[in-house]
Amino acid sequence: MVTKSKKQLQAKSGKANRVVKVALLGFGTVGSSVAAVLAASRFPGIQLTHIFNRDVERKRTSPAAKRVPGTVVWTDNIDVILKSNVDIVIELIGGINPVEGWLRKALASGKSVVTANKQLIAYRGASLGKLAAKHNVQLVHGAAVAGGVPVIPGILQGLCGDQVARLSGIVNGTCNYILSRMEAGADYATVLADAQQLGYAEADPSADVDGYDARAKLCILSRIALHAELDPDAVTTQTISTIEAIDFSYAKELNCTIRQVSRAQVEGTLVHARVAPMLVPLASPIAWSHGTQNMVVVSGRFGGDVVFSGHGAGGEPTAVAVVSDLLAVAQGSRPVQLPVRKRKVTGEFMAPHYLRFVVDDKPGIVSAISGALAKVGANIDSILQRPGYPKHRLPFVVTTEPCLTSTIERALASLAKLDCMLERPLCLQMLQIDDKPDEP
Ligand SMILES: NC(=O)c1ccc[n+]([C@@H]2O[C@H](COP(=O)([O-])OP(=O)(O)OC[C@H]3O[C@@H](n4cnc5c(N)ncnc54)[C@H](OP(=O)(O)O)[C@@H]3O)[C@@H](O)[C@H]2O)c1
Repeated sequence: MVTKSKKQLQAKSGKANRVVKVALLGFGTVGSSVAAVLAASRFPGIQLTHIFNRDVERKRTSPAAKRVPGTVVWTDNIDVILKSNVDIVIELIGGINPVEGWLRKALASGKSVVTANKQLIAYRGASLGKLAAKHNVQLVHGAAVAGGVPVIPGILQGLCGDQVARLSGIVNGTCNYILSRMEAGADYATVLADAQQLGYAEADPSADVDGYDARAKLCILSRIALHAELDPDAVTTQTISTIEAIDFSYAKELNCTIRQVSRAQVEGTLVHARVAPMLVPLASPIAWSHGTQNMVVVSGRFGGDVVFSGHGAGGEPTAVAVVSDLLAVAQGSRPVQLPVRKRKVTGEFMAPHYLRFVVDDKPGIVSAISGALAKVGANIDSILQRPGYPKHRLPFVVTTEPCLTSTIERALASLAKLDCMLERPLCLQMLQIDDKPDEP
């Protein structure tokens, strides 16, 4: 007897000459762009048959719907999709609930799933992947990190033969837009307001500026590149909202700029992972990405550094990644699967640190800082003080030689108690350019 899933498999592997039927869940920014890309390109053998969205009439009568073929069934009842004979479900709604339950049912009923949903894949990707394997269907999520930049398929197909030891990069376009505009002289509040007006940042910008969006993406990249399953909530994040214009002036003096960097590195059974604003050397490719661009550097033991860059978000770039996944699944291509292990995570890195103090200048402050750092075993590398600031509110910077972030934080905790400290000192890791990663 030929089962339903075998029939679908034959279709997907091109053995049967039949049309692959596709349902779209979510007709928002990316969903409507996917429909437009499919309508414009008319890929042979692919047929968009259903579109699901809440309050769907609003979507069906929207200008974006004009590009959708008249044969498509529009529905706001998920059961219409789940009970249909579609082969592939494209999920472009976002979030974990209620999407996870719907996708579980879709996979269990023999439908492959293509999604761009980073939160779902970061938190539930491992178990959804197992479910897909159990039902001999696919779960692919090439657009979940860096939107239109093919970093996920690039790692899965092009770099799986290496031992990737380290990942670093920019995976949140909103933060990159804010920080690269601050680098050009704008202040944080103005740029954030502009980002919100342009639709780059949400009314509540916390998921972006506090690092939660980027850490979900870092966990997805760690799974596929480092073969390490991390608990996203255990990954240390640091907000970019405490960065000020003065930090870019000091960064420039140090031949650096500041970016929200997501980095992960394997050391034995431990993964060092952190999402934070960091000083980035101007010579690093990470410093070269401006605006909403994304950039990921994957460092392999044998192949060295490979850099992915491009538009990390936006309807059409992301739709290209989604449609590329769709075509790959429809044609039966299967990504390489390698064992993934749960790993403990630490935000610690051995790195030089940038410390910015704002003080009411009094004699003895520098010796108090150097004393507190010496007490924890951290060595000062340089002290920078730009002229022109009032003595009663003086910003100045200390950089340290490489040491652990927790070591620096211990010293800062005691320094923060000094009366002359007007603000909580800012502590940023300084990224270093290494030629070749250590053996994982
Ligand atoms: N936008 C990007 O540049 C980008 C880049 C990479 C990845 N992604 C990912 O792609 C996915 C979609 O993002 P997007 O920007 O297209 O979002 P969006 O514009 O907000 O679209 C989401 C769509 O889903 C619908 N929807 C939301 N909750 C629903 C529910 N409970 N039931 C039925 N329909 C529901 C929304 O309807 P309403 O109109 O009623 O809200 C909307 O049409 C997300 O996972 C996102 O993280 C987006």
